[in-house]
Amino acid sequence: MSRPKVFVARRIPESGLNAMAAHCDLDVWPEQLPPPPEELRRRVADCTGLVSLLTDRVDAALLDAAPKLKVVSNFAVGFNNIDVPACTARGVRVGNTPGVLTDATADIAVSLLLAAARRLPDSAADAKAGRWLTWEPLGWMGQDLVGRTLGIVGMGRIGFATAKRLHGGWGMKVLYTARAAKPDADRDLGARRVELDELLAQSDYVSVHADLNPTTKGLFGAAQFARMKRSAVFVNTSRGPLVDQTALAAALRNGTIFAAGLDVTDPEPLLPSHELYALPNCLIVPHIASATPDTRNAMARLCANNLIAGVTGAPLPHCVNPV
Ligand code: DGY
Repeated sequence: MSRPKVFVARRIPESGLNAMAAHCDLDVWPEQLPPPPEELRRRVADCTGLVSLLTDRVDAALLDAAPKLKVVSNFAVGFNNIDVPACTARGVRVGNTPGVLTDATADIAVSLLLAAARRLPDSAADAKAGRWLTWEPLGWMGQDLVGRTLGIVGMGRIGFATAKRLHGGWGMKVLYTARAAKPDADRDLGARRVELDELLAQSDYVSVHADLNPTTKGLFGAAQFARMKRSAVFVNTSRGPLVDQTALAAALRNGTIFAAGLDVTDPEPLLPSHELYALPNCLIVPHIASATPDTRNAMARLCANNLIAGVTGAPLPHCVNPV
């Protein structure tokens, strides 16, 4: 019997590639940059499976070019790069990798929060550039953390893990928004579910963990930053388009808020000429939240398990559009 053909849109860890190669004929895109859309369409044309990354747009045009496709296994927990209804309409299952990157992502959210609050980027740049002239009694003042209020926007797994770290380690009070109440957060972290406006007004730290969808796109604009405290630190590890970056840059420049730490931007990569990089109170890292060997290996294995299940007609371990 012929083996299913699968296009893998980038090299992912060997643990995932080897698992898939045991069942399928793999065509792995070897470049650092994503395949251009027309190349992606060409490569997937006679495939049963596709391993996509968050940089690969899976839309109706791509699906129409791949009539044999049974499964799209996304190497990410987020799947805003995929037109899920279009997949569902064609009977294509979509898999993602939840759970395995929770801790790594929460670690980056906390790192960004601490670094932005205590001015690590601009004080380190000053030291390196020779602007460290003496011990400064009034210099490089940051924000305190102990006992402050943390606002988690989107109390899913990663929001919870972030809040757990900051509540447990720094005694932060936790407010959150979520579609439904989260009894675990209320019980274990003493957290309180509130409306976004209240969260923004009361929080010293705002950390964004909501997924990107039509209701969250542009959620943070000038009005939202204006509601926040002037001492507030804003952190985003979810997706860039939740934030109006022009409004964020203005808020950081004008002192409407104190600082920001971003793992995600819109677009990605954000070009070095972007105004946010010029602001000393804005720390940007290149979407690294899941970048540890254990996490990327676990993502690769889960991604492979979804793919193999999809091409063999079994239920996906993590499916975003189960039938
Ligand atoms: C995801 O999985 O959605 C992350 O953003 C990538 O690590």
